[in-house]
Amino acid sequence: MAKTVIEIERALEVGVRCFNVESASELKRIETVAKSVNKSPISIRVNPNVDAKTHPYISTGLKENKFGVDIDEAIDLYQKAHQSQHLSVQGLDCHIGSQITIVAPFLDALDKVLTLVEQLNDHGIHIHHLDLGGGVGIDYEGEQTINIQAYIDAILSKVGPTEIILEPGRAIVGNAGIFITKVEFLKQNSDHAFAIVDGAMNDLLRPSFYNAFHNVLPVNKNATGTQAQWDLVGPICETGDFLAKNRDLSLREGDYLALMSAGAYGFTMSSNYNTRPRVAEVMVSGHHHQCVRERETVQDLFAKEHVIK
Ligand SMILES: Cc1ncc(COP(=O)(O)O)c(C=O)c1O
Repeated sequence: MAKTVIEIERALEVGVRCFNVESASELKRIETVAKSVNKSPISIRVNPNVDAKTHPYISTGLKENKFGVDIDEAIDLYQKAHQSQHLSVQGLDCHIGSQITIVAPFLDALDKVLTLVEQLNDHGIHIHHLDLGGGVGIDYEGEQTINIQAYIDAILSKVGPTEIILEPGRAIVGNAGIFITKVEFLKQNSDHAFAIVDGAMNDLLRPSFYNAFHNVLPVNKNATGTQAQWDLVGPICETGDFLAKNRDLSLREGDYLALMSAGAYGFTMSSNYNTRPRVAEVMVSGHHHQCVRERETVQDLFAKEHVIK
C-alpha cells in the first residue's frame, strides 16, 4: 500500500517478481529506486469500483476505498511505465476485498480488468499476467460459500492464454486454526449472561473490529454447566472487548472454549494492546503437537524500552 524506499530496494535486491503499484507517486518512487539496478517489473493495482458485498472494512475495490488506482486512470499510468527506461510492465493486479461469498463480484471486476487489457493492447502495451488477488470467503457460521471449482471455471471461461495469479489467504488457512480461551468467571444480571474469558480483543480482533462471527465450541464436549445465551467478553476495559455474543452454551467457570476459524487474521491481527503479552501458538500435525511460538512475557514487552538518562 505504501512501499518505502528501503522496502523497494530490498525487494529489487532479492529479485522481486513484480511490484503491484498502488498510486502514481508509488510508481515514480519505484522508478527512481530502480535507476540504480536497471529495470523494475511492475503491475498496476487497479480499483475496478465493484461492490464486493462484504463488510465495509474488508471491501477494497470501491472508489471510496484507499486501494489501487482508479481503473479509468490506469491507462495513463501504464503509458508512463511503458515509456520509462527503468520500468518493465508485466501485469495487471486487482483485489476487491475479503470474505466474499458469491462469485459475481469477482466476475464483474474481471470484466472490467479484461476491458482494460484490450485497451492497453491497442496502445501497444502487453500484459503478461493477471493477478486477481484473494478474497474467497470461508464458512464462519454455516453460510453458503463459493465453490472453488465453479470460481476457477468462471475465471478460465473469460481469460485467454494469459498467466493468472491468485492470492487467497483466508480460504487456505482460515479453518486450519482455532483460538482457545478459558472461562474465568460467569456473571448474570437481569437481562444478560456474561462469560468473562481470559482471551481478549487484542488476541482475536475480528469480532470487535468487524463484528465478525466465530463459532464457539466447548473443548470438553461433555461438560455441562449453566445453560444460557452467553456473551463471551474479555478482561480489557473496553465495551468493544468481546469475542462472541448471544451463544447458546452450557458453561462452568474453568471451562475451555474453542473459537473456530481463527487460522486467518487471528494471530496476525493480535497485538499487545493493554500490555497483554501475545498467546502461544501450537501446531498440530496428525497426533503430534508442538509449541511453535512461545507465549510472550511482560518482560518481553518492555525489552526494547530504555530509561531516560
Ligand atoms: C492484496 C491482497 N491480496 C490478498 C489478500 C488475501 O485476502 P483473503 O484472505 O481474503 O483471501 C489480501 C488481504 O487483505 C490483500 O490485501
